[in-house]
Formats: sequence, structure tokens, C-alpha cells
Amino acid sequence: MAKGIFISKYLAVGGIIVGVAALSTIIALSVVYSQERAKNNEASPTHEGGTTSKPTTTPTTPSPSNEPWDKYRLPKTLVPHHYSVTLWPRLKPDPVTGLYIFTGNSFVEFECVEETDLILIHSNKLNYTLDSNKKHATLSAVSSGSAPAIKNSWLKTETQYLVLELDGKLVKGQTYRLDTEFTGELADDLGGFYRSEYIEDGVKKVIATTQMQATDARKSFPCFDEPALKAYFNITLIHENGTVALSNGAEKETTLITMDDQEVLQTVFERTEKMSTYLLAFIVSDYDYINTIDGVQIRIYARKPAIAAGQGDYALNITGPILKFFEEYYNSTYPLPKSDQIAIPDFNAGAMENWGLITYRETALLYDDAFASNSNKERIATIIAHELAHMWFGNLVTLRWWNDLWLNEGFASYVEYLGADKAEPEWNVTDLIVLNDVHRVFAVDALASSHPLSSLEDDIQKPAQISELFDAISYSKGASVLRMLSDFLTEPVFTKGLQSYLREFAFDNTVYTDLWSHLQAAVDDAKVDLPKSVQDIMNTWVLQMGFPVVTIDTASGSVSQKHFLLDPDSIVTTPSPYNYEWSVPIRWMKTGTDQDLIWLMEKSATNDDMKVTGASDWVLANRDVVGYYRVNYDAANWEKLLAALSNNHESIPKINRAQLVDDAFNLARAKIIPTVQALKTTLYLKNEREYMPWKSALDNLDFFFLMFDRSEVYGAIQEYLRNQVTPLFQHYKELTSNWTNVPDGHMDQYNQVNAISLACKTGLKECQDLVQSWFKEWMDTDKNPIHPNLRSTVYCNAIAAGGVKEWDFAWEKFNTSTIAIEADKLRAAMACTTTPWLLNRYLEYTLDPGRIRKQDATSTIVYIAQNVDGQSLAWYFIKSNWNYIFTQYGGGSFSFANLINGVTKRFSTEFELKQLNQFKEENAEVGFGSGTLAVDQSIERTQANIKWIKENKDSVLEWFQNPV
Ligand SMILES: *[C@@H]1O[C@H](CO)[C@@H](O)[C@H](O)[C@H]1NC(C)=O
Ligand SMILES: *[C@@H]1O[C@H](CO)[C@@H](O)[C@H](O)[C@H]1NC(C)=O
Ligand SMILES: *[C@@H]1O[C@H](CO)[C@@H](O)[C@H](O)[C@H]1NC(C)=O
Ligand SMILES: *[C@@H]1O[C@H](CO)[C@@H](O)[C@H](O)[C@H]1NC(C)=O
Repeated sequence: MAKGIFISKYLAVGGIIVGVAALSTIIALSVVYSQERAKNNEASPTHEGGTTSKPTTTPTTPSPSNEPWDKYRLPKTLVPHHYSVTLWPRLKPDPVTGLYIFTGNSFVEFECVEETDLILIHSNKLNYTLDSNKKHATLSAVSSGSAPAIKNSWLKTETQYLVLELDGKLVKGQTYRLDTEFTGELADDLGGFYRSEYIEDGVKKVIATTQMQATDARKSFPCFDEPALKAYFNITLIHENGTVALSNGAEKETTLITMDDQEVLQTVFERTEKMSTYLLAFIVSDYDYINTIDGVQIRIYARKPAIAAGQGDYALNITGPILKFFEEYYNSTYPLPKSDQIAIPDFNAGAMENWGLITYRETALLYDDAFASNSNKERIATIIAHELAHMWFGNLVTLRWWNDLWLNEGFASYVEYLGADKAEPEWNVTDLIVLNDVHRVFAVDALASSHPLSSLEDDIQKPAQISELFDAISYSKGASVLRMLSDFLTEPVFTKGLQSYLREFAFDNTVYTDLWSHLQAAVDDAKVDLPKSVQDIMNTWVLQMGFPVVTIDTASGSVSQKHFLLDPDSIVTTPSPYNYEWSVPIRWMKTGTDQDLIWLMEKSATNDDMKVTGASDWVLANRDVVGYYRVNYDAANWEKLLAALSNNHESIPKINRAQLVDDAFNLARAKIIPTVQALKTTLYLKNEREYMPWKSALDNLDFFFLMFDRSEVYGAIQEYLRNQVTPLFQHYKELTSNWTNVPDGHMDQYNQVNAISLACKTGLKECQDLVQSWFKEWMDTDKNPIHPNLRSTVYCNAIAAGGVKEWDFAWEKFNTSTIAIEADKLRAAMACTTTPWLLNRYLEYTLDPGRIRKQDATSTIVYIAQNVDGQSLAWYFIKSNWNYIFTQYGGGSFSFANLINGVTKRFSTEFELKQLNQFKEENAEVGFGSGTLAVDQSIERTQANIKWIKENKDSVLEWFQNPV
């Protein structure tokens, strides 16, 4: 899956403190919601299967919970070979029950590999038609012999099994066939076989679609739902005349048949390759498509008007080249006969790599240059590359169990940049991994409550534990350490090992160390000089959480490492097999000249090369931030680096300028250097025009905004930053001939957004007048004059400066927009208003799927919380509605950690800490699902923030008042 929500950090705009009026609105709101909750409990079906309780023939003594069906993992007795599945989703509600449903039947042929008298097969929320023996399934033997009778059959809800107890034993080596017939709800819950809705020409349209990863294939048909139990699948879909059906395989034939007295279409698909259940997909829609044949058949599917408007063209244009790139990179032809990609209006993640039928959020696939910013376009290119990368890495070769998820997602998150770079070579997109992944995940991985990349197989059992793994550590740290590995092995050696790994394990499963073995063979072959084996080096990064700060003393040449903790007083309770020491590859420079790679293999060492004698000579380590660590220097070297920044900043490569800022701010957070020293890295920004250093500075200053935007320090910060950003603002004004054209470079376009956001945010009048005049022109003429690149920030600032008129205008545009990318910009911008009742009304809308789609609910709440005026409103809202929010959005969603982290990000007072602890206690019973870890991280972060403010407020205020 691709990461779901990307939240822009510069939407919040300063304003007033929430008043009494807002509080009373909150109380009124929570009454509304408790009524809503009560209503919902009546209306919603229990979702339980038909016969959920154990029949009396089985022992009823309190079970010690060690029956096979109490365990979340399947016993190793049966191995599926082949499934045939027929599904018929109804796109209209049942006239009697009002439910949207699907019916289906399936059989699975499986081999018994260990004698047993028990069949456990996953099944969740399915109702079964009992056979003539009143059993949920029929068992028969394939080819020879006979099958034992089914003694008892029942559904075990907790562990999501259909349990079949047999009269006799299944014989080792014999193949059996299990037939079932079932009904499920086609709910709007974004998991398993579910429905998505949209309006076209005033008519409501319904799509049946799937999201199986991680454990929801079992919600669409009974299956052995573990990634290592690969099998072949014959899929058949029954669907209304006039709709199209898609699945992983190519359509073999579509015929008109009669079912239940209705004329319907039956589409039979080619048998799939041997694959995991979580990669299956079934979709029925009335979509249109465009296609091209570029080695394989490539099709882009979307709503008819979107295809007609050419919104699939960009995806179609870049898919062929990216597939070709990966074929070369992996040295392996695309494993399937077709590649379909489809945009779904309701979709929880960013995208899902179903084999041969990739599903996307609309914003992640559809491109329209009248509405899309360069950032939207980049996201489309990188997500497509991410998913296509999985067609081999993940789908052809699959990790055996979810504990190794980090390798699957980390790998795709790394090579997505390589794939996107092939499609758009002018962008230099590969540099951005430093901001988007390395810096981003440093923030999480520097907490004592972080976790190692790799988990033990036994520790990851329940669906919620699996969901929790879809986090920044798996994606971004995974990507960062693989990039580092590829760098020190060199790219040709890395790809050679990768290619032989894919060759050996095609259509099979692996554990992460299998990749290390193949890389090691490539290393041995190429005689790469490594201080230790690939496995020994990588274990230090994979088996322990966190990362080091490397300290270089240029006076003595000493180089040492220490576990970097954002809060130096936090207590690390997680033991590490390596004592929090890492095998650290150091690429470095001396006064602008690149030096040979060196390794730090122990706690500290001395390297005479790193001694510096000249008065203006400096050392800079972690060239281009290819290493997953931070760097600190002796005070003299820091001074010289700061001098280099202010005298001739281009003597330091731009990625490292971004690094110096980020490292300095974080070292200051960890009390390794004074905060004032970090602030000094922003002095040179007056002369900086490059995007990456600016973005790095803004990401770090964001913390100052969060900590101080409710205090008197804020005014001084604004004044300083206004002075720093004004030259950049003027630069863009000239470059674009008074805002009439668009800068050429991708990064320049990004930095133009930074210039406007920061200038407006810090109160530069010219900026505020500019954006308000654009927005006003749009409202007056109904013609939008704002370039798509600038829309997010312009909308946000104009809505913040405006009132109900501006907000309602945006809401109307949001509701009438048929372009998801445009709607998303408006949705984020509406959270920028400073009017409390508007914010509260907006919060209320997030629980109404008719107003805000479920997929967008949690991110909208986070947007509101980012606004200083919305912060406490959003928090009260979450607290008072937790039960409801959790039951609606808690299952399967991995944006849940984002919700908790997002809403508590600004927390920095004892009062907020107390509330957070209380929240944790009060909802212990309901739980936090995939947000469990995020709750602890938020508590830790809040404690650190409280301390930080106490220690820094005075000096920070003083520095901003007199910045030198
Ligand atoms: C499944 O059975 C339960 C209990 O009888 C019922 O409430 C539910 O609506 C059924 N679901 C479907 C999709 O038929
Ligand atoms: C099925 O749809 C096609 C085109 O939409 C139409 O020509 C045909 O008459 C329909 N057949 C039936 C049996 O409804
Ligand atoms: C599955 O599909 C393949 C061809 O796609 C076909 O040859 C085979 O007979 C099918 N198997 C079953 C059980 O329908
Ligand atoms: C797709 O490629 C065609 C042919 O190169 C080009 O004319 C068109 O502008 C491209 N469309 C997009 C959206 O990139």
C-alpha cells in the first residue's frame, strides 16, 4: 500500500485563542453525537455471521484459550493449491433490508501436509448457506479416496475462522476440496469487498471494489488468508448489464446469463499466477478506460467523465516507461499479461498494489493540469512507481509474514523515487527522499517509544497488530536504510543481488535475511570491501530501534556514536542486541572536497584524516544524507560551517545545507547544542534560493510555531522570519514577472509556494493583499485565477483572513468539484478559518459521510488541529467522540496513528499532558487499534515539549528579538 495521507504543514495560520462561545458549541456538539451514536447502534447490523456460537456438542467448559481456533495463526496442516470464486455484488440496496450485499460461492482445493481432523479457514463477516447436512461447507476428496464427514461447523468471530471439526482424519499427501456458499455485506467500510459511491450527472453511482491488505480477503470469501499460502485463483464476477468487471487476471469471456430471473453478465477471468490472498482484487463499475500496449496491455480506468476529460492520460503516459525501468532494474520481465490501474472515489490508503489491478485514490492517479499542482503530479508519479515496483518486489516474491512488512514497503518507498525519476528526469526527485522520508522518520525514530524495523513473527498476530506496522518506520526508515545499503554496496552490486533474489524466489515467499544472502553473494563476487558481512552490518539498523548521532571532533580526529534521543532524559526500556551501537558508513567532505568512505564500527575511534588544521577548513559528514544518522561537530567546526553558510553557502552541497539545518535543530532539541546555535543556521536563508534548505528550515521552525503560537514569543518569531523570507518573496515576484508566470524548475515551483506561505503567515502585507485579491477575484467572477501550484496556500490564507462568506464559497466549490485534487485543496483550506463556530461545524461534518467521505474524515480532523484556533476544538471533539470515531474508522485504517499524532502535536502544557493520560485511561476499554503506539508516543512527545519550553522560552524570545 502507498502511504495514505500527506498533510501539508503550512496550513495553520495564527490567530486568536478559543473562547467561551466555542466551548459551548462543543458541549452542544457532543450531545448531538451521543444521539447520533445511539441511532447508529440501532441501525447498524451486528456484522456477525449466521451461526456464531459454538454448538452444544463441543465442550463448553471455559476454554483455556489454547484451542487451535483461539490462535490467530493457521495451523501448518493444510496448504491451498487452487481456489475458484464466484461473486455477485449488488449495486442496489436490498428492497427489504436496505442493505447492499454480495453473494458468492467458492471452492478451494488444498493438500493435507500433516494429518488432522480439523479445518480452519479464515472467514470474517460472512453468512453461510448451510448444506443439506446443516453444515457451513461441503468437503470432498479430489481424485481418489473419500473425505471424512464434517462433525461440527461454526464461526469463530474473534479469530475470524470458519471452523470445521471432522469425524475422521485428513490424510497426509491427499488433496481435498471444500465448497461454500455465502453472503456478505457490501458496506461502505473501505475493507474487504466494499462499496464506493459518487454522483455523476445528478445520479448516484455505486462501485463494488476491494481492499484486501492486510487481512480482509477473508471478508469476501473463505480463504487461508496468510501471505505465505499462495495459490492459483479462478475468479468469476456476476454483474449487471452495462457494468464492467475487473480482477487480477485478464477477462476471458463475458456472457449474458440468467440468475434469479435476472439477465446479468458473467465475466470469467483467466486463472491468476500463484499469489497471496492479500493481493486479490474484484471490481464492478460502469467506468471507462484508456489503454496502450507497451509490451503489456496497460489500461487506466476511472469514472467516465474523468476519462473523457483526459485525466487518465498522465498515468497512461508514464506507466509504460516506469514498467520498462523496473524490468531492467530487476532484470525480469513484467510477470503478468496485463496491468490495470483504477481510481476509486472512496479509498483508505493512497493506493494498493493488487497484482495486475492496482487501486488508487483518485488524487493518486488522475491528473488534470488545470487543477493539479506540481506536488500533485509528483505524488502521482511516485505512487505509480511505488505500486509498480511491488509487482515484483512483494507480489512475485512475497515476504512470508507481516513482521517483515518493512522490507516490502521500505523497498518500494525507496525505489519509487528511482521509478519516478525515470518518468520525470528533470525533477531531481531522488533528492527529495531526504526531506520526505529520512528527515520525516528521524522525528519518530528518535523517541524512546520507537520500535525496530523488524519484529518477531510471534509478536505480530492480530489484525490490529498487523495494521500498526504500516507506519513511518516501515515505510520511511525502511526506505532510508535500503538507500544507505545501496550506496555503500554501490548500485550495480545492490541490483545484482536483488535480481538473483527475485530469480530464486519467484512465486514464492522469503524472510528478509534471504535478501541479505543474495546481496552478500553479489558483494563477494564484486569483491566489495566491507568491514563485516551485509547481514552483520544491516542487523544493527534492522534489529534495534533508533539511530546514532555521530560526533566528530576535528581537533582530535575522534569520531564517536551515541543513540540519538530527542528527549535526552527519556528512558529506553527496549533492550538492544547491539547495545545501541551501529555499523556506520560515513561519506564525508573536507572543505568542499569529497573524501573516501570510512566506517565507524565501534563506539568511538580516531581518524587522523578528520583532524583539521587550517583556520577556515571544515569537515562535513553524511554527504547527501545517504546515511541514516545525524552528525554533530566540535564547536569550532560548527562555527566554520556557519561561516561557510553565510559567506558562500554554495560551497556546501544543497542537500547538506538542508541537513545542517535539520541536524542543528534536532541536536538542540536533544540538548546536545544550544537552541540558539540551531537558530543561527537560519540566518543565511536571506541569501538562499534553493528549495531543500528552505523546506528543511520550515519543517523545523514549524516546531517553534507549534510551541509558541499561543505565546508572546510568536510576535518576535514572525518578525524575524518575515525579514528572512522577504528577499525570497521578492525573488519570485521578479522571476514570475509579478506573479504572472510559473517558474521552470520543479524545485523552484516548490520554493515559490514556501515563499508565499511563509510571507503570508508571517504577516507580509504585500503577500496577504495578493492572495486575498486573487481569492476575491475568484469569488467575484467565478473564474479561478490562481495557479494550481499556489492554490493550497492561497486558499488557506484567504479563508483564514476571511469569514463565513469565504468559507461558504469554498464549501460550495468543494461540493461541486468533480476533481478530487481540487476538492482536497479546498478541504484542507477550510480548516484554516479562525472562526470557532465554523471550525466546529466543520468538525461535525467529518462524521457525516454525506459531507466528508470516510476516507477523508481523520485527515480533515488533523487539518483542523493544525490550525492554532482549531487545536483544542479538535481535541475535545476527538475525546468526546472517541467511541464513535473508533468504531467507524478504527478498523484496518492505518491513518489512525496520524490522527492521534496530528491532534496532539501542539501539546506542551501540564494540563494537556493530564488530559492525554486521562484520555488513555478512559478509553482503555474501547482501545486505540492501530493508534495504540501513537498514544504512547504522544505522551512522550508532550512531556518532552513541556520540558523544552521551560528550558528554552526565554533564550528563544531573546534571540528572535535580537537575531545574531
Ligand atoms: C448476516 O446475518 C446476520 C444475523 O442473522 C444479519 O444481521 C446480517 O444482516 C446478515 N448479513 C447479510 C449480509 O446478509
Ligand atoms: C445489455 O446492454 C446492452 C448495451 O448496454 C444492450 O444493447 C442490451 O440490449 C442489454 N441486454 C439486455 C438483455 O438487457
Ligand atoms: C481455471 O482457469 C483456467 C484458465 O484460465 C482453466 O483452464 C481451468 O479449467 C479453470 N479451473 C477451474 C477449476 O475452473
Ligand atoms: C501524454 O503524452 C502525449 C504524447 O507524448 C502528450 O501529448 C500529452 O501531453 C501527455 N499528457 C500528459 C497529461 O502528460
